[in-house]
Amino acid sequence: MANFWQKLKKPFFALAPMDDVTDTVFRQIIVSCGKPDVFFTEFVSADGLISSGQQKLLQKFQFSEAERPIVAQIWGTKPETMYQAAMIIKDLGFDGIDINMGCPDRSVVKSGAGGALIDNPTLAQEVILATQEGAGGLPLSVKTRIGFKTVQTEQWISFLLKFDLAALTVHGRTVAELSKVPAHWEEIGRAAAVRDQLGVKILLIGNGDVTTFHDGLKKAKQFKIDGIMIGRGIFKSPWIFNPQVDTSQVTPQKRLQLLLEHARLFDEVWQGSKNFAILKKFFNSYVRGFKGASDLRIKLMETKTLADVEQLVGNQ
Ligand SMILES: Cc1cc2nc3c(=O)[nH]c(=O)nc-3n(C[C@H](O)[C@H](O)[C@H](O)COP(=O)(O)O)c2cc1C
Repeated sequence: MANFWQKLKKPFFALAPMDDVTDTVFRQIIVSCGKPDVFFTEFVSADGLISSGQQKLLQKFQFSEAERPIVAQIWGTKPETMYQAAMIIKDLGFDGIDINMGCPDRSVVKSGAGGALIDNPTLAQEVILATQEGAGGLPLSVKTRIGFKTVQTEQWISFLLKFDLAALTVHGRTVAELSKVPAHWEEIGRAAAVRDQLGVKILLIGNGDVTTFHDGLKKAKQFKIDGIMIGRGIFKSPWIFNPQVDTSQVTPQKRLQLLLEHARLFDEVWQGSKNFAILKKFFNSYVRGFKGASDLRIKLMETKTLADVEQLVGNQ
Protein backbone atom coordinates (compact mmCIF):
# COMPACT_ATOMS: atom_id res chain seq x y z
CA MET A 1 0.00 0.00 0.00
CA ALA A 2 1.24 3.51 -0.86
CA ASN A 3 2.78 5.13 2.18
CA PHE A 4 2.55 8.90 1.73
CA TRP A 5 4.92 9.51 4.65
CA GLN A 6 7.83 8.17 2.64
CA LYS A 7 7.21 10.65 -0.17
CA LEU A 8 7.31 13.82 1.93
CA LYS A 9 10.18 16.20 1.36
CA LYS A 10 12.02 17.13 4.53
CA PRO A 11 11.48 19.05 6.65
CA PHE A 12 7.73 18.72 6.22
CA PHE A 13 4.97 20.59 8.05
CA ALA A 14 1.80 19.23 9.64
CA LEU A 15 -1.23 20.95 11.08
CA ALA A 16 -1.74 19.57 14.60
CA PRO A 17 -4.92 17.76 15.54
CA MET A 18 -7.03 20.19 17.61
CA ASP A 19 -10.40 19.17 18.93
CA ASP A 20 -13.23 21.49 17.87
CA VAL A 21 -10.77 23.47 15.76
CA THR A 22 -9.28 21.46 12.89
CA ASP A 23 -12.47 20.15 11.29
CA THR A 24 -12.86 19.77 7.52
CA VAL A 25 -14.10 23.37 7.24
CA PHE A 26 -11.05 24.91 8.88
CA ARG A 27 -8.71 22.57 7.04
CA GLN A 28 -10.22 23.70 3.73
CA ILE A 29 -9.68 27.33 4.76
CA ILE A 30 -6.04 26.46 5.53
CA VAL A 31 -5.69 24.81 2.11
CA SER A 32 -6.75 28.13 0.58
CA CYS A 33 -4.14 30.04 2.62
CA GLY A 34 -1.21 27.64 2.22
CA LYS A 35 -1.40 23.89 2.67
CA PRO A 36 0.73 21.94 5.15
CA ASP A 37 2.26 18.67 3.92
CA VAL A 38 0.03 16.60 6.23
CA PHE A 39 -3.31 17.15 7.93
CA PHE A 40 -4.60 15.37 11.04
CA THR A 41 -8.24 15.15 12.10
CA GLU A 42 -9.45 16.07 15.56
CA PHE A 43 -9.13 13.11 17.91
CA VAL A 44 -12.02 10.67 18.09
CA SER A 45 -12.79 8.14 20.80
CA ALA A 46 -12.50 4.59 19.45
CA ASP A 47 -15.21 3.46 21.90
CA GLY A 48 -17.47 6.25 20.65
CA LEU A 49 -16.83 5.36 17.06
CA ILE A 50 -18.31 1.91 17.47
CA SER A 51 -21.19 3.05 19.70
CA SER A 52 -24.65 4.42 18.91
CA GLY A 53 -23.06 7.89 18.97
CA GLN A 54 -21.07 7.07 15.83
CA GLN A 55 -22.91 9.46 13.49
CA LYS A 56 -22.08 12.54 15.51
CA LEU A 57 -18.42 11.53 15.84
CA LEU A 58 -18.14 10.83 12.13
CA GLN A 59 -18.42 14.60 11.59
CA LYS A 60 -14.88 14.80 12.94
CA PHE A 61 -13.78 12.33 10.28
CA GLN A 62 -15.35 14.23 7.39
CA PHE A 63 -12.77 15.41 4.86
CA SER A 64 -12.47 16.59 1.27
CA GLU A 65 -9.97 15.44 -1.34
CA ALA A 66 -8.15 18.79 -1.12
CA GLU A 67 -7.06 17.86 2.42
CA ARG A 68 -4.98 14.83 1.45
CA PRO A 69 -2.77 13.43 2.77
CA ILE A 70 -4.92 13.24 5.86
CA VAL A 71 -4.44 11.13 8.96
CA ALA A 72 -7.30 10.15 11.29
CA GLN A 73 -6.50 10.33 14.98
CA ILE A 74 -8.11 8.06 17.56
CA TRP A 75 -7.80 7.52 21.28
CA GLY A 76 -8.80 4.67 23.56
CA THR A 77 -7.64 1.83 25.78
CA LYS A 78 -9.44 -1.24 24.51
CA PRO A 79 -7.46 -3.14 21.90
CA GLU A 80 -10.69 -4.58 20.45
CA THR A 81 -12.32 -1.18 19.87
CA MET A 82 -9.05 0.30 18.56
CA TYR A 83 -8.95 -2.59 16.08
CA GLN A 84 -12.51 -1.92 14.93
CA ALA A 85 -11.99 1.84 14.79
CA ALA A 86 -8.92 1.30 12.61
CA MET A 87 -10.99 -0.80 10.19
CA ILE A 88 -13.58 1.99 9.98
CA ILE A 89 -10.82 4.55 9.29
CA LYS A 90 -9.44 2.39 6.52
CA ASP A 91 -12.89 2.09 4.95
CA LEU A 92 -13.36 5.86 5.13
CA GLY A 93 -10.35 6.26 2.83
CA PHE A 94 -7.87 7.99 5.12
CA ASP A 95 -4.16 8.04 4.27
CA GLY A 96 -3.02 7.07 7.76
CA ILE A 97 -4.03 6.42 11.38
CA ASP A 98 -2.59 8.16 14.40
CA ILE A 99 -2.96 7.05 18.01
CA ASN A 100 -3.16 9.76 20.64
CA MET A 101 -0.82 8.94 23.51
CA GLY A 102 -0.35 12.43 24.86
CA CYS A 103 -3.69 14.04 25.67
CA PRO A 104 -3.65 15.49 29.21
CA ASP A 105 -7.41 16.07 29.39
CA ARG A 106 -8.60 14.90 32.80
CA SER A 107 -11.40 12.65 31.54
CA VAL A 108 -9.19 11.04 28.87
CA VAL A 109 -6.33 10.41 31.32
CA LYS A 110 -8.75 9.08 33.96
CA SER A 111 -9.96 6.47 31.47
CA GLY A 112 -6.34 5.30 31.07
CA ALA A 113 -6.07 6.65 27.52
CA GLY A 114 -4.15 9.53 25.88
CA GLY A 115 -1.20 10.62 28.01
CA ALA A 116 -1.93 7.94 30.65
CA LEU A 117 -0.61 5.31 28.24
CA ILE A 118 2.89 6.73 28.79
CA ASP A 119 2.68 5.25 32.27
CA ASN A 120 1.28 1.95 31.01
CA PRO A 121 3.58 0.55 28.29
CA THR A 122 2.00 -2.89 28.46
CA LEU A 123 -1.39 -1.51 27.45
CA ALA A 124 0.23 0.95 25.01
CA GLN A 125 1.77 -2.05 23.22
CA GLU A 126 -1.58 -3.87 23.01
CA VAL A 127 -3.27 -0.72 21.71
CA ILE A 128 -0.62 -0.18 19.02
CA LEU A 129 -0.63 -3.78 17.84
CA ALA A 130 -4.44 -4.02 17.72
CA THR A 131 -4.72 -0.73 15.81
CA GLN A 132 -2.08 -1.88 13.38
CA GLU A 133 -3.93 -5.11 12.75
CA GLY A 134 -7.20 -3.25 12.08
CA ALA A 135 -5.41 -0.72 9.88
CA GLY A 136 -4.85 -3.36 7.21
CA GLY A 137 -1.65 -1.82 5.86
CA LEU A 138 -2.52 1.86 6.37
CA PRO A 139 0.54 3.59 7.84
CA LEU A 140 0.35 3.99 11.60
CA SER A 141 1.74 6.87 13.65
CA VAL A 142 1.69 7.90 17.31
CA LYS A 143 1.52 11.37 18.86
CA THR A 144 2.88 11.57 22.36
CA ARG A 145 4.67 13.65 25.00
CA ILE A 146 8.07 13.31 26.66
CA GLY A 147 6.76 11.76 29.88
CA PHE A 148 3.82 11.56 32.23
CA LYS A 149 4.78 13.21 35.52
CA THR A 150 8.49 13.49 34.82
CA VAL A 151 10.61 13.70 31.68
CA GLN A 152 11.30 10.14 30.46
CA THR A 153 12.21 10.83 26.86
CA GLU A 154 14.82 8.10 26.31
CA GLN A 155 12.88 5.34 28.01
CA TRP A 156 9.47 6.11 26.49
CA ILE A 157 10.58 7.11 22.99
CA SER A 158 12.90 4.11 22.62
CA PHE A 159 9.98 1.89 23.66
CA LEU A 160 7.72 3.40 20.96
CA LEU A 161 10.44 3.16 18.33
CA LYS A 162 10.32 -0.65 18.60
CA PHE A 163 7.02 -0.71 16.75
CA ASP A 164 6.41 -0.60 13.04
CA LEU A 165 5.40 3.06 12.95
CA ALA A 166 5.65 5.38 9.95
CA ALA A 167 5.98 8.50 12.09
CA LEU A 168 6.18 9.61 15.70
CA THR A 169 5.16 13.10 16.84
CA VAL A 170 6.80 14.27 20.04
CA HIS A 171 5.20 17.20 21.87
CA GLY A 172 7.98 18.54 24.07
CA ARG A 173 6.16 18.61 27.39
CA THR A 174 5.14 16.05 30.00
CA VAL A 175 1.45 15.32 30.51
CA ALA A 176 1.60 16.99 33.94
CA GLU A 177 3.00 20.17 32.39
CA LEU A 178 -0.12 20.61 30.22
CA SER A 179 0.76 23.75 28.21
CA LYS A 180 2.03 25.68 31.19
CA VAL A 181 5.76 25.69 30.47
CA PRO A 182 7.69 26.31 27.24
CA ALA A 183 8.13 23.14 25.16
CA HIS A 184 11.43 21.38 25.93
CA TRP A 185 12.87 21.32 22.42
CA GLU A 186 16.14 19.83 23.63
CA GLU A 187 14.12 16.73 24.63
CA ILE A 188 12.66 16.55 21.12
CA GLY A 189 16.27 16.65 19.88
CA ARG A 190 17.04 13.86 22.32
CA ALA A 191 14.18 11.78 20.89
CA ALA A 192 15.67 12.23 17.40
CA ALA A 193 19.09 11.19 18.68
CA VAL A 194 17.58 8.05 20.25
CA ARG A 195 15.95 7.26 16.90
CA ASP A 196 19.28 7.70 15.11
CA GLN A 197 21.13 5.52 17.64
CA LEU A 198 18.57 2.76 17.18
CA GLY A 199 18.96 3.13 13.41
CA VAL A 200 15.22 2.96 12.75
CA LYS A 201 13.53 4.76 9.85
CA ILE A 202 10.54 6.16 11.75
CA LEU A 203 10.00 9.85 10.88
CA LEU A 204 10.32 12.14 13.86
CA ILE A 205 8.01 15.15 14.09
CA GLY A 206 8.59 17.88 16.68
CA ASN A 207 5.72 19.81 18.21
CA GLY A 208 5.33 22.66 20.68
CA ASP A 209 5.23 26.47 20.49
CA VAL A 210 6.31 26.85 16.86
CA THR A 211 5.18 30.35 15.91
CA THR A 212 6.21 30.80 12.26
CA PHE A 213 7.23 28.75 9.23
CA HIS A 214 10.82 29.99 9.60
CA ASP A 215 10.86 29.11 13.30
CA GLY A 216 9.81 25.60 12.21
CA LEU A 217 12.59 25.37 9.60
CA LYS A 218 15.14 26.50 12.17
CA LYS A 219 14.01 24.00 14.79
CA ALA A 220 13.92 21.12 12.29
CA LYS A 221 17.55 21.82 11.42
CA GLN A 222 18.75 22.49 14.96
CA PHE A 223 17.13 19.40 16.48
CA LYS A 224 17.64 17.15 13.44
CA ILE A 225 14.04 16.14 12.99
CA ASP A 226 12.06 15.29 9.86
CA GLY A 227 8.93 17.32 10.36
CA ILE A 228 7.32 20.13 12.32
CA MET A 229 3.77 20.10 13.67
CA ILE A 230 2.06 23.42 14.34
CA GLY A 231 -1.07 23.79 16.45
CA ARG A 232 -1.90 27.10 18.12
CA GLY A 233 0.38 29.04 15.76
CA ILE A 234 -2.43 28.75 13.22
CA PHE A 235 -4.47 31.19 15.31
CA LYS A 236 -1.72 33.77 14.92
CA SER A 237 -1.83 33.31 11.18
CA PRO A 238 -3.86 30.97 8.97
CA TRP A 239 -1.10 31.63 6.38
CA ILE A 240 1.54 30.07 8.65
CA PHE A 241 2.28 27.23 6.22
CA ASN A 242 2.78 29.64 3.33
CA PRO A 243 6.26 31.21 3.40
CA GLN A 244 5.26 33.49 0.49
CA VAL A 245 2.83 35.40 2.65
CA ASP A 246 4.09 38.06 5.03
CA THR A 247 1.24 38.10 7.54
CA SER A 248 1.97 41.68 8.57
CA GLN A 249 1.15 42.72 4.99
CA VAL A 250 -2.23 40.98 4.81
CA THR A 251 -4.90 43.68 4.43
CA PRO A 252 -7.89 43.93 6.80
CA GLN A 253 -10.15 43.33 3.76
CA LYS A 254 -8.38 40.04 3.05
CA ARG A 255 -8.73 38.96 6.69
CA LEU A 256 -12.42 39.78 6.78
CA GLN A 257 -12.94 38.05 3.44
CA LEU A 258 -11.38 34.89 4.92
CA LEU A 259 -13.57 35.13 7.99
CA LEU A 260 -16.63 35.30 5.75
CA GLU A 261 -15.45 32.34 3.69
CA HIS A 262 -14.93 30.35 6.88
CA ALA A 263 -18.34 31.25 8.31
CA ARG A 264 -20.08 30.46 4.99
CA LEU A 265 -18.35 27.12 4.58
CA PHE A 266 -19.14 26.25 8.22
CA ASP A 267 -22.80 26.98 7.56
CA GLU A 268 -22.84 25.07 4.27
CA VAL A 269 -21.04 21.97 5.56
CA TRP A 270 -22.60 21.62 9.02
CA GLN A 271 -26.07 23.03 8.24
CA GLY A 272 -26.87 23.76 11.85
CA SER A 273 -25.67 20.38 13.16
CA LYS A 274 -22.70 22.01 14.90
CA ASN A 275 -22.95 24.76 17.45
CA PHE A 276 -22.38 28.17 15.80
CA ALA A 277 -20.42 29.27 18.89
CA ILE A 278 -17.54 26.99 17.79
CA LEU A 279 -16.82 29.56 15.06
CA LYS A 280 -16.18 32.28 17.60
CA LYS A 281 -12.80 30.92 18.61
CA PHE A 282 -11.56 31.87 15.12
CA PHE A 283 -12.73 35.49 15.15
CA ASN A 284 -9.69 36.63 17.16
CA SER A 285 -7.31 35.26 14.57
CA TYR A 286 -9.01 36.92 11.59
CA VAL A 287 -9.89 40.21 13.21
CA ARG A 288 -6.64 41.63 14.51
CA GLY A 289 -3.93 44.14 13.71
CA PHE A 290 -6.08 46.89 12.22
CA LYS A 291 -7.94 49.96 13.45
CA GLY A 292 -11.35 49.04 14.85
CA ALA A 293 -10.46 45.33 15.13
CA SER A 294 -11.13 45.18 18.83
CA ASP A 295 -14.60 46.76 18.52
CA LEU A 296 -15.49 44.47 15.65
CA ARG A 297 -14.37 41.40 17.65
CA ILE A 298 -16.62 42.37 20.53
CA LYS A 299 -19.59 42.72 18.17
CA LEU A 300 -18.76 39.44 16.41
CA MET A 301 -18.84 37.64 19.75
CA GLU A 302 -22.54 38.50 19.97
CA THR A 303 -23.45 37.01 16.60
CA LYS A 304 -25.68 33.96 16.49
CA THR A 305 -26.02 33.22 12.78
CA LEU A 306 -24.17 33.49 9.49
CA ALA A 307 -26.50 36.34 8.52
CA ASP A 308 -25.40 38.27 11.65
CA VAL A 309 -21.74 37.81 10.67
CA GLU A 310 -22.37 38.78 7.05
CA GLN A 311 -24.20 41.90 8.07
CA LEU A 312 -21.50 43.01 10.54
CA VAL A 313 -18.60 42.31 8.21
CA GLY A 314 -20.46 43.75 5.21
CA ASN A 315 -20.81 47.05 7.05
CA GLN A 316 -17.05 47.43 7.50
C1 LIG B 1 -7.85 23.46 21.34
C2 LIG B 1 -6.86 22.33 21.27
C3 LIG B 1 -7.31 21.06 20.96
C4 LIG B 1 -6.40 19.99 20.88
N1 LIG B 1 -6.84 18.75 20.49
C5 LIG B 1 -5.94 17.76 20.28
C6 LIG B 1 -6.35 16.51 19.73
O1 LIG B 1 -7.53 16.29 19.40
N2 LIG B 1 -5.39 15.56 19.56
C7 LIG B 1 -4.07 15.78 19.88
O2 LIG B 1 -3.23 14.89 19.69
N3 LIG B 1 -3.67 16.94 20.38
C8 LIG B 1 -4.56 17.94 20.57
N4 LIG B 1 -4.12 19.16 21.01
C9 LIG B 1 -2.67 19.39 21.21
C10 LIG B 1 -2.04 19.94 19.92
O3 LIG B 1 -2.14 19.00 18.87
C11 LIG B 1 -0.54 20.27 20.14
O4 LIG B 1 0.14 19.11 20.52
C12 LIG B 1 -0.34 21.33 21.21
O5 LIG B 1 -1.24 22.41 21.04
C13 LIG B 1 1.11 21.88 21.19
O6 LIG B 1 1.45 22.39 19.93
P1 LIG B 1 1.41 23.99 19.60
O7 LIG B 1 2.27 24.67 20.64
O8 LIG B 1 1.93 24.13 18.22
O9 LIG B 1 -0.03 24.42 19.77
C14 LIG B 1 -5.01 20.22 21.14
C15 LIG B 1 -4.58 21.51 21.46
C16 LIG B 1 -5.48 22.56 21.53
C17 LIG B 1 -4.97 23.94 21.85
